Amino acid sequence: MSSNNDNMKSAMTIIGVSGSVYIAVKMSWFRKNPFHVFSGKTGAMSKSLVDAGIQSYNAFFEQEDGKGVGTKIVSTPDFVNKFYSLITDFYEYGWGESFHFAAREKGESFEKSIIRQELAIAENIGLKPGMNVLDLGCGVGGPMRNIVQGTGGKVTGITINEYQVGRCETLNKAAKLDHLTEIIQGNFMDLTKVFKDRKFDGAYAIEAACHASNTQALYEQVFAVLKPGASFASYEWLRTDKYDPTNKTHVDIVDGIAEGNALPEVRTIEDCIQAAKGAGFEVTLTFDRATTGGVPWQQAMKSARRAAYLTHLMTGLLEFIGFAPKGTQAVHTMLLKAAVNLEKSGDLGIFSPMYLIVMKKPLSA
Ligand SMILES: C[S@@+](CC[C@H](N)C(=O)[O-])C[C@H]1O[C@@H](n2cnc3c(N)ncnc32)[C@H](O)[C@@H]1O
Repeated sequence: MSSNNDNMKSAMTIIGVSGSVYIAVKMSWFRKNPFHVFSGKTGAMSKSLVDAGIQSYNAFFEQEDGKGVGTKIVSTPDFVNKFYSLITDFYEYGWGESFHFAAREKGESFEKSIIRQELAIAENIGLKPGMNVLDLGCGVGGPMRNIVQGTGGKVTGITINEYQVGRCETLNKAAKLDHLTEIIQGNFMDLTKVFKDRKFDGAYAIEAACHASNTQALYEQVFAVLKPGASFASYEWLRTDKYDPTNKTHVDIVDGIAEGNALPEVRTIEDCIQAAKGAGFEVTLTFDRATTGGVPWQQAMKSARRAAYLTHLMTGLLEFIGFAPKGTQAVHTMLLKAAVNLEKSGDLGIFSPMYLIVMKKPLSA
């Protein structure tokens, strides 16, 4: 037993230390593509901008209790983009190529549960070979790669973050999936401008619509770029019916989730259903996937916590000796706070990161 504990401690130490070195290196030397100077693009946040980036992000998030970011909501796409420039490397290292949670069965591996979660949403929209669907907020493309491999359908991803586009292209090529995937940098609040007259056979969003400045406005954009009869499914980050707005603990936890994850506000189940109907969709299924699976969704984060604390100490040390850019530890602090609040919300059942809502564009539309 004690040798098992020792092995576990050694594994966590190795993960924590190697994690911080990996992140320090990624945040320092490989982030800025020098050729972007000629193209006029900025690439990911350069080393010198990390500190200012996290400070301005933190300042942005002075929210009124339980009310979200208020009038600053109009700048949502900018601060979400800044957030992903800061944290994409952390997510990829700590979580993998898919940036979402999963309902895991007992005895099932984390990776398998992630793929099952992704194939389930593809099934909800009936993705089959010969169809081309949209992935809203596609991250670095972990879900799209698993979905095209699992279904044979084609996926076009959109993300607001330029750094993610580069990572996604590299990973799609490495997986030899270029012929079934496409990735576009753009704002999903402007789909009609990005895609003009192009129409899709379906659409899905995995833990991404929570970043929309307005859910109905986003759903209206999706509606407009879908063919009649096509379906849209989204895993939403929502307050559940157990959330009590008069309970200070509940309010603080959900505000902490918003701040640590760049959400302008955290909506309710009813808000989303109304948004879908308001956009013209028929709501065909609503279901909290967080209530399924033998392992609570927040368990994955609890397991990673010891390694995360060590990574935290190491990022501070590497920043102090000048190896990691200034601000690296502050970014990690924000992510640790987010993780702790997500865990608490799951334990209390006041929040779901995978509330599934499936909608259909009427054939007559
Ligand atoms: C939590 S990540 C999920 C990524 C991906 N769905 C996955 O599961 O791996 C949220 C994603 O939404 C994207 N996003 C947020 N706001 C966006 C916007 N206004 N337009 C396009 N993408 C956006 C982010 O860039 C990020 O890729």
